[in-house]
Amino acid sequence: MSGAIAHDDLARDGAPVSHRPLGILAALPEELGDLVDAMRGEAGVRTITHGRRDYHLGTVYGVPCVVTLARVGKVAAAATVSAMIHAFDVEAVVFTGVAGGVGRDVRVGDVVVADSLMQHDLDASPIFPCFEVPLLGVSRFAADAALVAQLSAACERFVAEEGADLAARFGTQTARVHRGLILSGDQFVASAAAVQRLRDALPDSLAVEMEGAAIAQVCYEYDVPCAVVRTISDTADAEAPETFTNFLRQIAGTYSSGILKRFLMGRSGV
Ligand code: ADE
Repeated sequence: MSGAIAHDDLARDGAPVSHRPLGILAALPEELGDLVDAMRGEAGVRTITHGRRDYHLGTVYGVPCVVTLARVGKVAAAATVSAMIHAFDVEAVVFTGVAGGVGRDVRVGDVVVADSLMQHDLDASPIFPCFEVPLLGVSRFAADAALVAQLSAACERFVAEEGADLAARFGTQTARVHRGLILSGDQFVASAAAVQRLRDALPDSLAVEMEGAAIAQVCYEYDVPCAVVRTISDTADAEAPETFTNFLRQIAGTYSSGILKRFLMGRSGV
């Protein structure tokens, strides 16, 4: 495929949509919620397969979007967001999904909006400082401040309106919204010792996952605004595999759907 796929041939009520789309990604289908169904219910979905991924184009709550699954890990995330930027000309990127809690007061069912992201498994020392992306000179990538504010507001509204119901359904405490550092690495963190090592190395970290910092690095390199929102599915300890699996099956989609609905409605003014 050469050149970007224009979004303005997607007519809505006969009117061409002229805005560059927003890119929305998750790693796994359960983390995307009802976004593609919501798109189908509006002006319809056009699906383009590119690099072994299906990119769904349409509008969600009136916002032109490209929605896809990045799959798991930093390489998968980097490859997918690169395609979003180059083949689909997205104006900004939002990544949604679950993460393991690292911060001492971050509990299962809480939501973390990243204000910065870094790769906890990147270490080219002594040639370059630990965690620094070689030749880029950056270890922490900032999320876009305006997107972070909009996403945080959407999360706060979601928790206020649906938090009590969710807590009762999943048996968690009422969710809280945190904002801060999210760590990414190519490991599922699942032991008390491993999560303590992360806390010791990076005491301000709130959550750990496997894609966000890769998305943030690619967006930084191409000057595309990005943001990452994660619901805490587990606390990255020995129980994490089971807690993660249950959370993913039972509830992750409800969080993503509810948060993105409020976020997108805020952007479109619906
Ligand atoms: N995503 C959700 N939980 C995680 C964990 N414990 N480690 C890495 N990624 C995760």
